[in-house]
Amino acid sequence: MSHPGLFITFEGIDGAGKSSHIEGLAAAFRTQGRAVTVSREPGGTPLAEKLRDMVLSDPMDALTEALLIFAARRDHLCNVIEPALARGEVVLCDRFTDATFAYQGAGRGFDLGVLSTLERMVQTGTAPKADLMREPDLTVWFDVAPEVAAARLAGARIPDRFEAQPIEFFRRVAQGYADRAAAAPQRFARLDAAQDRHRVWQQLTSVFVRKGWLAIMVAAQKGPQ
Ligand code: TMP
Repeated sequence: MSHPGLFITFEGIDGAGKSSHIEGLAAAFRTQGRAVTVSREPGGTPLAEKLRDMVLSDPMDALTEALLIFAARRDHLCNVIEPALARGEVVLCDRFTDATFAYQGAGRGFDLGVLSTLERMVQTGTAPKADLMREPDLTVWFDVAPEVAAARLAGARIPDRFEAQPIEFFRRVAQGYADRAAAAPQRFARLDAAQDRHRVWQQLTSVFVRKGWLAIMVAAQKGPQ
């Protein structure tokens, strides 16, 4: 049976715990016979991964940062996301444009109007329908207090340019996500990511079961490792 592609993104501040659930979800979809592409932003193609390295480590101003992130997104959309959706796959992407509004917009204070213009420019003309602006079918938002996220990250690895930011930065980023979710409530599913991994997994899978995308049995079998 052929399925339409599904584009699902995962968002939250650093330390929200989203990445550990994405592989579990991919396994659950595969158990049901769906082909899955797992990817991330910035990144997902050889070019976009090079841009990711720069964005995460090289000092730069806010406009340069936003332009590099959107350049990486365009390459990723054209070469990975759209082809996978055209094949009817489930695309699970660790972060997408909501992160740009949260980090560059709310976090860095970069002009939201410019980000909206770039969003439209970069995400239009990649889908088969030429005038469609590609957006996620669902965005799962792992909502957690910056203090909880910071405690989880403490000592975990050498921080990149974002992880090294002070807690006030993450308060603004968290508010940026809340604003994006309030503006598009039909696209967002909010999870209480302060709970333990198993509970977060249950919240996550129940969203997909409610949408009819995962069978209850499969959701119950798979879980965070
Ligand atoms: P992560 O994928 O390990 O979370 O690292 C990506 C970092 O890049 C994370 O700190 C958030 C940041 N980022 C932005 O600032 N803007 C964006 O648009 C995206 C996708 C990520």
